[in-house]
Amino acid sequence: MSTQLPDQTEDESSAGEAEPTSAAQERRMAKKRERAAERDEKRQAEEAEAALADEETYHLKVFRYDPEIEGKKEPRFDDFHVPYHKGMTVLDALMYARDTYDSSLTFRHSCRQAVCGSDAMFVNGRQRLCCKTQLSDLEEPVRIEPLPHAEVVKDLVVDMEHFYDQMEAVEPYFQTNDLPDGELEEQRQSRENREKVKMSTRCIWCGACMSSCNIAAGDNEYLGPAAINKAYRFTMDEREGEDMKQQRLEILEQEHGVWRCQTQFSCTEVCPKDIPLTEHIQELKREAVKNNLKFW
Ligand code: SF4
Ligand code: FES
Repeated sequence: MSTQLPDQTEDESSAGEAEPTSAAQERRMAKKRERAAERDEKRQAEEAEAALADEETYHLKVFRYDPEIEGKKEPRFDDFHVPYHKGMTVLDALMYARDTYDSSLTFRHSCRQAVCGSDAMFVNGRQRLCCKTQLSDLEEPVRIEPLPHAEVVKDLVVDMEHFYDQMEAVEPYFQTNDLPDGELEEQRQSRENREKVKMSTRCIWCGACMSSCNIAAGDNEYLGPAAINKAYRFTMDEREGEDMKQQRLEILEQEHGVWRCQTQFSCTEVCPKDIPLTEHIQELKREAVKNNLKFW
């Protein structure tokens, strides 16, 4: 038998003897009101928490396409609601969606710190590196698509072969006939020259600039901003020497080289490494003109 029951009965009977009934009732009512207020407070706190959780969810609309699976060949957009945490990037959200909701969601990524260039995508109508783009900077729903003007392999993955071909066409590596005389002598570069080519060396081959370029979209042979920037990096490097500069300008002066650029600045606007691409292309145009000036 419980030891509480006799105590309670004793309390109640002694209270009944010591106080008038109305006072005891009043006390009970007050306690009841107190408990109801506590319940209300708790419910309000729970509702506020639920509302906050709703607010802290980001709505993603992600492009899907899989040419190898029947029923997924038709391009479509899938919706994902991803819980938000401070500092979350678009890449974090995509990874959450893949790991939590659909493991077949396909996209490239590697370094997660704007170094490897593998996660350039078309986010809310603009080419961006997903690992460098904060969700909080974007309007909802966040629309994520593969890079435009490239063939889609699956979901958000595009075929980069054409981009790499254009890069390769400008011979993107150091070459020189101008070696120092002494066998062990270093090949030095002046501070000024290093400063001049500094920004052009920052390219991470993400392809965002090429994807944003209207000219590249309409002319498959156009070298494109990234390749021309790569050519700039070596053409302007004083250590390669005049002969190499001449050879490089010959590549750039071709029909689908620098002259195709119409200074629309779209490449410069989307470049995640802030390379002044349009400026570099214009400088190479001036070099090409100088290269072809003849004085009789
Ligand atoms: S130039 Fe900029 S946008 Fe173009 S590939 Fe390089 S890093 Fe990407
Ligand atoms: S994951 Fe490497 S640049 Fe974004």
